[in-house]
Amino acid sequence: MCGIVGYVGNEEAVPVLIEGLRKLEYRGYDSAGVAVLGKPGLVVRKAKGALKNLEEKIKVETGGSTLTAGSLANSVLSGTMGIGHTRWATHGEPSDTNAHPQVDVSGKIAVVHNGIIENYARLRDWLIERGVQFTSETDTEIIANLISYHYKGDLLQAVLDAVGRLDGSWALVVISVDDPDRIIAVRKENPLVLGQGAGETLVGSDVPALLEYTREVYYLEDREIAVLYRDHVDFYNDEGKSIQKKTTHIEWDAAAAEKGGYEHFMLKEIHEQPKALTDTLRPRIITADAGGVNDTAGNKGAVTNNAKKISLEEIGFDASWAQANRVMITACGTAWHAGVIGKYAFEHFARIPVDVDTASEFRYRDPIFNPKDIFIIISQSGETADTLAAMRMAKKGGARIIAITNVVGSTLAREADLVMYTWAGPEIAVASTKAFTTQLMCINLIALQFGVLRGTIDPVHLNKYINALEAIPAQAEKILSGKENIQRFASLQFNKNKVFFMGRLFDYAASLESALKLKEICYTHSEAFAAGELKHGPIALVDTSTLVVAICTQTKLFDKMESSITQVKARGASIAVITWEDDAESGRFDRIADEKFRIPRTEDALSPILSVIPAQLFAYYCSVLRGLDPDKPRNLAKSVTVE
Ligand code: AGP
Repeated sequence: MCGIVGYVGNEEAVPVLIEGLRKLEYRGYDSAGVAVLGKPGLVVRKAKGALKNLEEKIKVETGGSTLTAGSLANSVLSGTMGIGHTRWATHGEPSDTNAHPQVDVSGKIAVVHNGIIENYARLRDWLIERGVQFTSETDTEIIANLISYHYKGDLLQAVLDAVGRLDGSWALVVISVDDPDRIIAVRKENPLVLGQGAGETLVGSDVPALLEYTREVYYLEDREIAVLYRDHVDFYNDEGKSIQKKTTHIEWDAAAAEKGGYEHFMLKEIHEQPKALTDTLRPRIITADAGGVNDTAGNKGAVTNNAKKISLEEIGFDASWAQANRVMITACGTAWHAGVIGKYAFEHFARIPVDVDTASEFRYRDPIFNPKDIFIIISQSGETADTLAAMRMAKKGGARIIAITNVVGSTLAREADLVMYTWAGPEIAVASTKAFTTQLMCINLIALQFGVLRGTIDPVHLNKYINALEAIPAQAEKILSGKENIQRFASLQFNKNKVFFMGRLFDYAASLESALKLKEICYTHSEAFAAGELKHGPIALVDTSTLVVAICTQTKLFDKMESSITQVKARGASIAVITWEDDAESGRFDRIADEKFRIPRTEDALSPILSVIPAQLFAYYCSVLRGLDPDKPRNLAKSVTVE
């Protein structure tokens, strides 16, 4: 998410920056901006919306019909060094003010940033105490002012000092009026690449921004720092010691480079899940000694458990929410599947009645509202017409609304009472993957917090679940590292026209999402069944042409699953099982399954976050093997903004 470009050379910087940003548009964004070091000093121009809005703004100002060196030469935007950014909003909604670059109070230091600063609230208060007045809602403006605070004549040292105080993740590119010949770039958990052209040096958040200038790029590693000059780049480690780096030759063409070397956005987004899950979880978990959060009665949305706490303070969640008599969850498609899992999670962790509905049904029913109901509305885009209609209906009925969404400033985010962002980054493929698993992360956090506040989760269990949640990103990575196994299986099964997923409890909910993936991108007739329902009808469909994928992670129901699998196997179906690795109990499925996919052990209630990943990969590979485009399935739109 977000695109970064920096340029120092001999050409006018603005056209280079705009073209670089254009190459990064695929990453998704909601506003754009550039900062140039020119004759009058630092000049910043920003615009909400498409990159062309920024371009038009600059064209009007410089009097040119195109953005050329000629039209820029006599304008304040003339300069051969600058930084540019396409922003995907995190802190603060999309607007000209919140767009990057962000500038410090002196107007001398400009910063573009990709990532999330977790301790921004504390740093903001600290800077306000020292007289800093903020103009935006961004965490990035804090970074610009921290660098400014630490600046004692050496920009590199000031960046090092400021970065040393940040928690979270970042890719930062910094310029300063007082240091007019170099750009500083530093990263943690967000990519930055650098390239050297003839008399010019560039930095970008991805290779496409550099390809016009060079195919030899340097990948910056975590905590490394790059200092860009016109004719060379210096690299340092986080202690400020000089290091040598080797270039990598880029073979990909521009289109492949946009996808980070993956064949499709969907595969890229499937692989982004470990990082997305970390981004979703980490800002919401604090250790007891981290300070800054009250621990009594959950008044600040945080609860002590001797070791770790869930903190939902950031979203304004307080104990009053947990006094609800009933939770209602409404959403569409994949987000509704997250809601079904949410229902099970709430019942399990918080012992509170939950209704879950597809928004398209809910909005035309005659639902009964009670004053103490709360609504959780889930939507990746925050713009789905049915979902918004359901939210407005619930609001009218007097319910309080928590939104779980991926898009800052979306209609859902603006109209809900509380918003919990999934921080998954832009999801471009129509079939949702990382948005789904991060929605699950969010709903589990809310359910656990409800449990704590209602006294149904004790500190020991909370700690156990937090540890399990924290292990999930690495476990997801492990599943992804075994993707060839799933690819091989897909090569045997991709022509199947009848694929049923079945499971019980959380596995049934995971089956719903797994079946939808196959429908969406393979056009396969796939269905999900609660395994216990088979004998009430669906088993009549099963024959030798059927593939049944049994998701088996609910340990207490293994006997029941074994029996259901035996029944479909007896009707000639091929059987694949997704179950735990290193688990003596799950060994029983070896005997009856034609194929097994083992996933790392987590708590039974958290299993869908992991068990859906093999199903996502299976659908992806089947789609490719069928010669389809998994990113753009027929008849489907990414965001359904009309009924
Ligand atoms: C998911 O793969 C689908 N593209 C679709 O079901 C989607 O989840 C649904 O349209 C809801 O979208 P939203 O999350 O943006 O509201």
